[in-house]
Order: sequence, then structure tokens, then C-alpha cells
Amino acid sequence: MDPIIVRGGRSLSGEVRVAGAKNSALKLIAAALLAPGQTRIDNVPDISDVATMAEVVSGLGAEVRRQDNTITVDAGSLVSHEAPYELVARMRASIAVLGPLVGRLGRARVAMPGGCNIGSRKVDMHIAGLEALGVRFEFEHGYIDATAPGGLHGAEVTLEFPSVGATENLLMAAVLADGITVIENAAREPEIADLAAMLVAMGASISGAGTSIITVEGVESLKPATHSVVGDRIEAGTFLVAAALTGGPVTITGVDPAHLDMVLVKLEQAGCEITTGPDSVTLLRTGTLRATDVQTLPYPGFPTDMQPQFMALMARAEGGCVITENVFENRFMFADELVRMGADVRIEGHHALVKGVETLSGAPVRCTDLRAGAALVLAGLVAEGETEVTDTFHIERGYEGFVEKLAALGADVRTATG
Ligand code: EPZ
Repeated sequence: MDPIIVRGGRSLSGEVRVAGAKNSALKLIAAALLAPGQTRIDNVPDISDVATMAEVVSGLGAEVRRQDNTITVDAGSLVSHEAPYELVARMRASIAVLGPLVGRLGRARVAMPGGCNIGSRKVDMHIAGLEALGVRFEFEHGYIDATAPGGLHGAEVTLEFPSVGATENLLMAAVLADGITVIENAAREPEIADLAAMLVAMGASISGAGTSIITVEGVESLKPATHSVVGDRIEAGTFLVAAALTGGPVTITGVDPAHLDMVLVKLEQAGCEITTGPDSVTLLRTGTLRATDVQTLPYPGFPTDMQPQFMALMARAEGGCVITENVFENRFMFADELVRMGADVRIEGHHALVKGVETLSGAPVRCTDLRAGAALVLAGLVAEGETEVTDTFHIERGYEGFVEKLAALGADVRTATG
């Protein structure tokens, strides 16, 4: 994707609809592997990560078709159980096929997902949890080789940390295991409940999704289903920060406000007025932006995926605050880019000490990851002059029409060729 050019100074107003959640859609596509036949998924975001996941499941033998924001996955006959290196290297979320493959075929061969710009991204909890269900693993030549010689059986699994990916892989393996599985200290993100809802529509027996204890009673087989992806709470939060930076009022639709609780609390503490509807949030800021401490935590805590965007907001707030990143060990990489725009940020371990400044100045900056890229564009909305954001393929991975949506709200933003 070409560089994004944004000129500061405009205030945003109007209404924008968010797409379906990237971090649910990717797993729903993988979960479709569990049932022979055609599963239909609506409200799928048109982003490159979805295209990559479609490539992964096609490589396994599923037939994938996209029509606008609907994807159908026909997993009638799978011909392979291997997720190749080049796809997993491109998108580590490909690891989400591990659970469905061992569930459906009793085996899987997935390249070890590498680390990325925000941390080492280990999968030890995925492995330990699946071993408890009877999966045997071998690791060789950069691949995870999984087999279930005696089939999968239910088990009690307690996660060391409420890992989103580990919870999802366990869930997708347990639905076809023999007996009852209880996942303790499960992740509670709304995307987990969304995955469970589709699995139940496919015939699975699951209770407690969205809480820390999920119980699954294995069934013989699953059937295809139709499901609509939950609205993207992180895309919504990203646009809310754009409104908070420039004043608004901006209304975000297509999202459940309850999925943004802690983000809304922090935006109100920062001086914003928030009103909510059944599937919308409106933000207006007329007073000054107040510095507000934040610490990222597993849901329902403040989402780590909103940390970069909030730092961009605090860079313009009055006063100083501390932003603590508790989920990933290296998610402050982009702070240096923000500093190039005049922000006053000092990193001390997993704390970022941010002192608000009067003005940010436009500068050439580089995306280090998806959310950091979005945050840099947001900073450009209130920077003096022009900001050129490069390596914007990161943004394209997770935001459908990011530039178009911001421009529709009145931002002076375009892609370099646009
Ligand atoms: C999902 O990643 C999301 N990605 C991430 O969003 C999100 O930041 C994260 O959940 C937390 O909410 C997708 O859903 C595709 P974790 P995931 O397992 O599943 C460590 C974005 O920008 N860990 O909850 O990988 C891990 O290293 C992306 O959309 C282990 O140590 O997150 C991390 O420090 C970024 N061992 C922490 O736990 C494991 O086996 C949280 O990881 C698994 C995880």
C-alpha cells in the first residue's frame, strides 16, 4: 500500500460504521474447517489478513469464496493438514488452524509462528492445553507436528495466562473431543464469545464463553452454519480516539458499546463526552484533553490493541501520564516515531511516561505494526503540516478503508497515489 499523507488541523465530524472484527473473522474462517459442507460468514472485513487466512484454508482443501463482506468456506473434503511456512510467517494468526485440524483430522502440521514487532508471541499455552486433550507434538525443521493417536478426549485445562489464541485453539479442538473439557482462566474477549456462538450454531455444546470458565461437551460431528462477525471494537476505539483528538462529534456504528467499556471510561476521564446507543457510540470533546494513566490488561481491562492509539492521544493531553503495557513485552516500538513528531515520551521498561505537548509537527514516520500505524495517522490528524506514513501494509492488514473512512469524517488524508 502506498504511503498515507495526512495534513493536520481539521476537526472530524459525522458517522462511520466499523467492519466485522478482524480478530474474530480470522478464527471463524478457521473454525469452518470443523464441518464438512459450506459455512457462510457475513460482515467479514475486507482486509489482507482475511485474504491470507482464506489462502491458508484453501491450501488445506477448503473451497473459499468471497462476495463483498461475505465469505463462504466449503470444508467438504480436506486434502492437507499442513499450514505452510510462508503463510504462517506472513500471518501468525494462521496458528488458529491448529485446533480445528486436530479436531477434524486428528493431525496438523503448522509452521512455528515467529515473533513480530510487539513481542515473542509464544504458543506454549496452545501446546500444553492441546496435550491435555490427547494431542502429541513433535517440533522439527521449524514446524509443529501434531497428532492425536488415541483421538481427542475432554480434560480440565487451566491457562497460565488468559491467552486469546490458546483459548480459541482449545475451544476448536474440544468441540469434537470425546467427553467434557473445562478451560479455566480462559480469555474473555468478545471475539471468544463470537467464535463460541458460531460453533454452537454448528452444533457444538459450549457454555461460559466470555467468562473465565468455559465448558465444552464434545459432540460426534458439526454441521455448516451461517454467522455474522461481531463488530470490531478496536477499529471503533481507533476512530473514537480520532474524534477525541480533533473534537468531534463523531458517531461510530456497528459496534456493541459494552465491548468498549474500559476504553470509554478512559476517554471520559480524558475529558470526552460519550453517549451510546444499542450499536453505536458518539464522542464529543469541547474542553481540554486531560492526561490519564492507563494500563493494558486482558479483557475486560484496557485492550493492548488500543495502547498505541491512546498514547497518540496522551501526546496532546494537558499534563503527564503513565501508560503501562502488561500484555506484550515489546509494544512501545512505535513511540520513537511519535517522538519524531515532537511527542514527549520516555520508556521505562513496560511503562511509557508521556508528557502532553502543545503541538505535534508533521514528519515522515514508519508503521511498526498494525495498531502503531493507525496511531501515527491519528497523530498526523493534529500535527502541524504534513505527515507521511510509510510501511502502511501493516494498516491494510486490519483496517478496511481506513483512509476513506477518515476522509469521509473530514480529515485531510489520502494515499500517496490517491
Ligand atoms: C490476539 O493475539 C490478537 N490477535 C492480538 O491482536 C491481541 O493483541 C491479543 O490477542 C491480546 O488481546 C488475533 O486475534 C489475531 P494472546 P494472541 O495469546 O492470541 C503470550 C492486533 O493488533 N502468550 O492473548 O496472540 C503472548 O506472547 C493483534 O489485532 C504466551 O506466552 O494474544 C502475549 O505476550 C496484535 N504463550 C500474551 O500472552 C502462549 O501460548 C497475550 O497473547 C500464548 C500467548
